[in-house]
Amino acid sequence: MDRPMKSITARADGKFYEIMIGKEIFSSACITLKMLSYDRLAVIVSAKVMQLHGEIIRQVLSEYNNYDIFEMQDSEENKNYRYVEEFLNGMLKKGYSRKSAIAAIGGGVVGDFAGFIASIYMRGLPVIQIPTTLLAMVDSSIGGKTAVNISSGKNIAGVFHQPDLVISDVSFLQTLPENEIKNGLSEVLKHGIIGEKNLFRILYENDLKSVKELNNLKDIVYFSALFKSGIVEKDAKESGLRAILNFGHTAGHAIESMLEYRGISHGEAVAIGLKIELKISRQQGLLSEEEYNTINELIRRYKLIYNNYRLNADDIIKHMKFDKKNYNGKLKFVLIKKINEPVYNQEVDNCLIKDAVDSVLNS
Ligand SMILES: NC(=O)c1ccc[n+]([C@@H]2O[C@H](COP(=O)([O-])OP(=O)(O)OC[C@H]3O[C@@H](n4cnc5c(N)ncnc54)[C@H](O)[C@@H]3O)[C@@H](O)[C@H]2O)c1
Repeated sequence: MDRPMKSITARADGKFYEIMIGKEIFSSACITLKMLSYDRLAVIVSAKVMQLHGEIIRQVLSEYNNYDIFEMQDSEENKNYRYVEEFLNGMLKKGYSRKSAIAAIGGGVVGDFAGFIASIYMRGLPVIQIPTTLLAMVDSSIGGKTAVNISSGKNIAGVFHQPDLVISDVSFLQTLPENEIKNGLSEVLKHGIIGEKNLFRILYENDLKSVKELNNLKDIVYFSALFKSGIVEKDAKESGLRAILNFGHTAGHAIESMLEYRGISHGEAVAIGLKIELKISRQQGLLSEEEYNTINELIRRYKLIYNNYRLNADDIIKHMKFDKKNYNGKLKFVLIKKINEPVYNQEVDNCLIKDAVDSVLNS
């Protein structure tokens, strides 16, 4: 029988924490949160999620003795360093101590902001991640990367700060707009390509309609969390293996930064980035034509790129180089030898990159 809740014990930076995954588990999983017995809990919640799920959130928290709800407008502009001091002042005024904790209920924006606050308030408080978007469940809530934006760049102020607990209740996803599901699926496909066979199988056997059934989403979140936490356990600070998680992101980040993080979602930028980096893998003679076509068919089937963009290959390459300026201007990629066999730190000739980007933009 399908178990209502699956659990993963993750380990990173010498610390163990639980990732709980299931349908309608938010209230029961919060019993675990209660047992962690913090003196006070600052709950940072997406204003949108509060609007949609406020009743259950208030009901669950009402059993918790000492807490405050801080609603956050979760746009990328608000995940900003300029709000950090204001927030820290607010916590101090309310009497938060070193025995307190922070909980984040929302997508990656809320999770990253709350994680960053937790990492610096009084030299670090525990953080509990309660993701409510697919992207946050399969990616940003796991691995301990926290960051906020500064005026000259995205995610520039940040630290590694592993969570104490992650509660992924896929029931939250019932209210998530379809495009946000697709954004999460880009990261799921990435995991399926670089190492988690089960994810590739689920995507291959389903379509956009069937994949949204809660049982499928539960499996997707479970296998993604298992895969990502396994990589992070081996390399928490991204000094080696964790780099494979950047597949599709060298080009993806360049496209996002070119469009100033406004005109495109992270998921769509990653999907275009996947296409470019798959093309480079193909051109380098690594990936077979058959596997290349199969993956591209999945990108089409799940409509992971759902807008038309006027992109220019030279601009994308310029932004890739800018992103990587600390590596002497040399561009390194994660490439794919075959499905589930990535290689990282691959230097690629500029002409080849240009050919690949041109070919993807003109396809
Ligand atoms: N820390 C990491 O490792 C990591 C990894 C990937 C991305 N990120 C960061 O994550 C952020 C993107 O996260 P995201 O894609 O979750 O975006 P998001 O947090 O902006 O959420 C997307 C939208 O969904 C809404 N929403 C959230 N939950 C909902 C629900 N259950 N029902 C209806 N609407 C809901 C939000 O209000 C928002 O409008 C970026 O800032 C990115 O930098 C961090």
